[in-house]
Amino acid sequence: MTSNSKSNRRTFAIISHPDAGKTTLTEKLLLQGGAIHLAGEVKARGQARRARSDWMKIEQQRGISVTSSVMTFERDGITFNLLDTPGHEDFSEDTYRTLTAVDSAIMVIDAAKGIEPQTRKLFEVCRLRSVPIITFVNKVDREGRPLFELLDEIADMLALDVSPQMYPVGMGGQFEGILDYATGAIARPEGPSKEFKGKRDENAVVPEQFAEEAELARIGYPEFDLEAYRNGDLTPVYFGSALKNFGVTELIDAIAKFAPPPRPQPAGEEQISPDHDEVTGFIFKVQANMDPNHRDRIAFMRQVSGTFKRGMKLTPSGLGKPIAIHSPILFFAQDRELADTAEAGDIIGIPNHGTLRVGDTLSENNKIRFTGLPNFAPEILRRVQLKDPTKTKQLRKALDDLSEEGVIQVFYPELGANHIVGVVGQLQLEVLISRLSAEYKVEAALEAAPFATARWVKGSDEALQQFENFNRANLAKDRDGDMVFLAKSPWDVGYQEEKNPDLKFSATKER
Ligand code: G4P
Repeated sequence: MTSNSKSNRRTFAIISHPDAGKTTLTEKLLLQGGAIHLAGEVKARGQARRARSDWMKIEQQRGISVTSSVMTFERDGITFNLLDTPGHEDFSEDTYRTLTAVDSAIMVIDAAKGIEPQTRKLFEVCRLRSVPIITFVNKVDREGRPLFELLDEIADMLALDVSPQMYPVGMGGQFEGILDYATGAIARPEGPSKEFKGKRDENAVVPEQFAEEAELARIGYPEFDLEAYRNGDLTPVYFGSALKNFGVTELIDAIAKFAPPPRPQPAGEEQISPDHDEVTGFIFKVQANMDPNHRDRIAFMRQVSGTFKRGMKLTPSGLGKPIAIHSPILFFAQDRELADTAEAGDIIGIPNHGTLRVGDTLSENNKIRFTGLPNFAPEILRRVQLKDPTKTKQLRKALDDLSEEGVIQVFYPELGANHIVGVVGQLQLEVLISRLSAEYKVEAALEAAPFATARWVKGSDEALQQFENFNRANLAKDRDGDMVFLAKSPWDVGYQEEKNPDLKFSATKER
């Protein structure tokens, strides 16, 4: 795999379990990158997240969550694009798709808690695509778990080589600072707030009671190996305190130095590299109704190759004809700045009225199709029951919009009038009901549907027709009009697969 090593773009996400300190770290990264204004907003979100109802209120004030969906900052000639992954505990498709748009990730771990369930789930998603991971063990200003226990836990639970790059000299009450193995310097807490103010002690000597541990941690684990890291086999480990601003500079430097520049992206059998000679990209997220007064939406495109210029014409694969991108948005921290040019690795927001969908490829020549952005077979299916039957049209519109955004999937049964929605996590249903009411003024309830899962059905026209004749009561069309089999149980899926060897029943669908 070749990547464009000259590129100064680093496009990454932070993965963590709630409360590990993602928000605080994001704030500090942005502060150091000179994007100070956002800090308060990021904080507001962190607090809100702890109370789910608050969180939804904030989510509905679209402005905040949008400016912070993509945060761009610059430092020492490197442009960092930080993509926010939704912070709630439920795994959602949105999170998965965001991780398809990054080249690397930072895994934040609470020093007192180690690897927690959500960290692990997100890690597995990264592993599927060999996304390289830098580990940041946070909150070393507090009492944490013993160092070796933490390092071994990361290595064992994630089956990953760990390579500590720093050593926290004492944790909690004994905290004396952080030793950087590369330079031998120790950053020490300063002043009453015990923050790190930026003066490193270059001639530091590690206090005797820690000296042996510091040395063992350095020699007892694999040395850093760039290739192993970039293949996703090894994670360099940094220690720090986001709250006290310890270790954050080292972390940014590590991303600048080690994290891969824009990586090639899969398009069927091909890999499209950043220096491919046309502008290409794919939509990984669509956000509707950011401004309640305008029913506009923003599609987020991860640029894969070429140099984008404002006003350029690109063809979305779902539309088949070119559109001019007149007012693209780059998500510089505070304002939505109008982008004039963008490079591979950048994220561009494209305002549109529903022409752009998650999974669409955009390109100049309309020949490439990026692959690997799947829909997942839903694990929870519900019937949508309208409280006011005159709102059928509004409901349909809302469900179409929200399925485009990837909040839910919607299925239109061949028999019966009620729409069926499918999700992979319970929280998606709560978001659905809340947004139906707040944004579309549609009051709806969700009822149990007699289905446990769904499969996309593919085959020859003839085979499909025959299957349809016998199974109409269990068939639906998805948003694209593709046939979906609604199964009563996993057993039901197996039974139909056996009975219909000419058909393919798949649990994911790539657009
Ligand atoms: P999250 O986005 O991952 O959910 O975590 P967030 O940054 O919101 O941090 C969760 C809590 O952990 C916050 O405390 C935050 O202040 C604290 N925290 C984050 N980093 C550090 C650190 O390096 N050291 C210490 N000691 N604490 C840290 P809270 O009391 O829940 O919220 P708040 O009221 O202080 O904001």
